[in-house]
Amino acid sequence: MQLVKQTRGNPNPSARAKAWQLFYLTASCMPPTKDFMGVVSEYIHQVAHDEDEPTETRTLAQKTWNALKRTSKAGQRRTLPDMQEIDALFKGAQSTAVVSFLDETFEELVYDASTTVSEAVVSLAAQIKLENFSTFTLFAVHKGKGASEPGQPAVDEHVLLDDNRYISDVMFDFKQMKTKEGIASKLLLKKRLFRETDESITEPQFVNLSYIQAQHDYMVGAYPVIREDGAQMCALQMQAEYGPTLAGDATAFEQALEKCMPKSLLLGRPREEWKGDVMTRYKALAQFTKDDARQQFLRVIRSLPYGNAIFFHVKRIEDPIGLLPIKLVLGINKRGVHFFRPVPNEYLHSAELRDIMQFGSSAQAVFFKMRVAGVLHIFQFESSQGEDICMALQTHINDIMMKRYSKAKEAQDSGEDIAKTVAGADFGPKYQAHVAELQRQLDEATGALEAKEKELDQLRSQAGDLMDYQAGVEAVAIDLSSLNLSGGDPAALQAIEARIRKAEGERAALAQKLARIDEDHSKEMNKLQAELDAARGPVKDQLKQKDTKINELMEELGNKEMLLNEAQVSLTSSKDSRKELEELREMKADVERREKQQAELISSQAKRLEELEVLYRDESLQRKKIYNAMEDLKGKIRVYCRVRPILPFEEKKGQKVAIQIPDELSIKLEWKGAMKEWNFDSVFQPGTSQDKVFEDTKHLIQSAVDGYNVCIFAYGQTGSGKTFTIYGNDELPGLTPRGVTELFNTIDRDAGKFSFKVEVYMLELYIDDLQDLLADNKKGDKMMKHPKLDIKKDQKGVVTVPGAVVVPVHSARELLSVIDGGLKNRHVSATDMNRESSRSHLIITVCIEATNLQTQSVSRGKLSFVDLAGSERVKKSGSAGEQLKEAQAINKSLSALGNVISALASEQGHIPYRDHKLTMLMSDSIGGTAKTLMFVNVSPVDGNLDETQNSLVYAQRVSTIKNDVTKHDDSSAVLKMKKQVDFWKEQAGLPPHKREYVDLIEIMDEKQVAQ
Ligand SMILES: Nc1ncnc2c1ncn2[C@@H]1O[C@H](COP(=O)(O)OP(=O)(O)OP(=O)(O)O)[C@@H](O)[C@H]1O
Ligand SMILES: [Mg+2]
Repeated sequence: MQLVKQTRGNPNPSARAKAWQLFYLTASCMPPTKDFMGVVSEYIHQVAHDEDEPTETRTLAQKTWNALKRTSKAGQRRTLPDMQEIDALFKGAQSTAVVSFLDETFEELVYDASTTVSEAVVSLAAQIKLENFSTFTLFAVHKGKGASEPGQPAVDEHVLLDDNRYISDVMFDFKQMKTKEGIASKLLLKKRLFRETDESITEPQFVNLSYIQAQHDYMVGAYPVIREDGAQMCALQMQAEYGPTLAGDATAFEQALEKCMPKSLLLGRPREEWKGDVMTRYKALAQFTKDDARQQFLRVIRSLPYGNAIFFHVKRIEDPIGLLPIKLVLGINKRGVHFFRPVPNEYLHSAELRDIMQFGSSAQAVFFKMRVAGVLHIFQFESSQGEDICMALQTHINDIMMKRYSKAKEAQDSGEDIAKTVAGADFGPKYQAHVAELQRQLDEATGALEAKEKELDQLRSQAGDLMDYQAGVEAVAIDLSSLNLSGGDPAALQAIEARIRKAEGERAALAQKLARIDEDHSKEMNKLQAELDAARGPVKDQLKQKDTKINELMEELGNKEMLLNEAQVSLTSSKDSRKELEELREMKADVERREKQQAELISSQAKRLEELEVLYRDESLQRKKIYNAMEDLKGKIRVYCRVRPILPFEEKKGQKVAIQIPDELSIKLEWKGAMKEWNFDSVFQPGTSQDKVFEDTKHLIQSAVDGYNVCIFAYGQTGSGKTFTIYGNDELPGLTPRGVTELFNTIDRDAGKFSFKVEVYMLELYIDDLQDLLADNKKGDKMMKHPKLDIKKDQKGVVTVPGAVVVPVHSARELLSVIDGGLKNRHVSATDMNRESSRSHLIITVCIEATNLQTQSVSRGKLSFVDLAGSERVKKSGSAGEQLKEAQAINKSLSALGNVISALASEQGHIPYRDHKLTMLMSDSIGGTAKTLMFVNVSPVDGNLDETQNSLVYAQRVSTIKNDVTKHDDSSAVLKMKKQVDFWKEQAGLPPHKREYVDLIEIMDEKQVAQ
């Protein structure tokens, strides 16, 4: 009032201006009480708009009016402004303060003496471009004030600032605390509470600040979580802050792990385990954007029962259950009140909104009347923020109520049944019936309310009438006063006064009536309100239950999302392993393919190798054959080796085959630990037929017919198959019978061109005695019975035995019967080695004389088959007595043959043909003039290896011996001369058997002569 007076009536302009300044200052920090507010504000407004006032005054009045507008809402300042502030106010200067955010960033706040918290929030929101700031406010943060117990680390205390508090007051408090208690304080902008509507806000700044706050609260341990959630939330923060870049940087990843995991959680498990767990989840989130990760993090926090709470540090006053510690933290969210032990952070209990029956606060305390385990209890806590706690709780309750109401309204507006629209859920027919009943009650209540409102409208129109009436009365009064002013006649004045009194009486009566009507009206309104409340009660309960259900479903949804994330993680890892498996399969198939290719290559190479081997064998065989043919041309003695089969008696003795025949030209045996191989013109393996053996021999028959001296002889150990080869038996005829047949076949074939004369003689050399096996056939010629047989050689080097019986033959059969007859005289006996061992050397000689019918030229061939007696080791053959003598003689003769062979093979000057009759007999066959074929017969068994080896050595030597083969042809002139000689011999009186050999010379060692 003083200020009004001073400003209004002050004649001194400068004093007046000062008064206005003071007025401005006062209005900025000490608004008048409500009683005076109207008067004062009207006065200031009038001055500010009075054009008669000086500009300076008007400006100050305007400022004062503005200040008053602001302070009238916020009330008086608690602290008086200091000189600086006053000075700044007058100069129009503004102060600044720093406002922090939870992520350690800050903004500068410009304020003046009357700036309130809510104004500061508006300007800050504009600064940081935050549109949805209704849930944000300023907090005073007192560093380290929240320590609960001695020894525990200090916790910052966040105190919510009242909207109407002056920033200047707050700053003053900060200074005071700093100087008195040494506590540093600052302003902090953050959400005062998380409301359900937050979820639908997508403004990036809003989401970002919400995320920062949720993350901050989580990191200081406000939301205890289990390990799995911890790992997931850590991974989400990493993705939200760094994107997928950490996967490749181990150090950065580890630092981020430290930063994104609450300490208490981090220490509860080995670091390596955390790393592995978090890394898998982090990788699985790679495709998430940072914003997605933020949203997801907020969603996870929301799904916690105590998620998205705001926290108040309080002290326990009353705890009927006796479970709470002295200092504790209350968390308020849309689900209710949650109790935590601050250090170590521990969740203790939750009371859901539906369990909180009542709550309230005083300046120092807050209380909750709530249901715990079905029983009502009152809890009381000491807190200067009781009002804020109640406010937060009330806001959530209102939110829920609003939500339900708007849903119900929506359902009603669209004509749908509530049961169908409430969260789209259907909990069964009972539920629906119940809701329908509630709906009906609500409709009734609303109907009643509408009726009452109509009534009220009527009353209001009555009240309006009354007001009109009053206005009329006031108009009359004005008339009266004007009359009064104009000063009319007193009678009329009295009449008018009477009218006025009457009118005033009426007015009083009407005022009373109006008051009554008002009273009735308010009573009626209260009654209606009570009825409406009563009707809403059950609906509220029902909606509360529904909300609980929704909360449960939300929780479940949160859990399901967590499970989904885990499933995604395991899906990614199983995709990885499937990819790996497929790669391995491909590798395996590749390896198998290569192995197959290699196997094919190897088998084709093996095939090729076999082919080459066959080719090589054929090639070397061919080479040997060609070589033999060349040697043949040179006159080399042909040597065939024949291996007989193992005999039954040898098998009985357990003897084994010890001979190998690699091909048809070679024979191999193991001799003194080493394999020895011999090559011959042919090697016949056991089982080779007589026919095959003859096949390779046949060409010699033709040679004999052609006039060559042909000798086929067999050499070998006793029992090795000489007789079998040279003569054979009835079933398996050998070379002699086959040769004889072939001979006459040739003769028959050539009968047109030649005339043939065939003769045969057979000799046996038995123990140095040369015997004529055909002599017995010459019956009646006593002189000839045992003629002395000499061995001679004609001028062409052909051995002849003058005195031997020569039997002319004309057919094969005849020849064979002659031979058979002679054979019967041969010396044969059984030895241990051979049942029919030949005890003598046998010589069958067939002489063929062919006269060419055209030219009359004559050729004389000689075909000899020599079956030698077998060499034997006396002990082995078991010979004794006469047989022993035979054996000794046989061995003697064969060793003489051996000597001749050795001498011939080593090309010695002296060939000892004369040492034995056998060598004399064979002198034209070995190293002589014949085409000679030698069979070396060997036994295959291991018991005979010594003898086999010996025989092969002999045969090898023989194969190197060269004969001087010539054909025996006489021209017709020579033939004439011979006939003349014969005539003269007859004239000389020579007996016929001597005539042929009269000019023979004694066999001489021609080689020796030649030397
Ligand atoms: N290639 C063969 N196939 C079947 N049996 C054979 C063959 N060679 C020999 N033998 C049999 O072996 C046994 C001895 O043969 P052989 O009488 O021909 O021997 P050898 O050399 O004449 O003996 P020795 O010097 O004692 O007269 C006979 O019973 C004969 O039938
Ligand atoms: Mg024999």
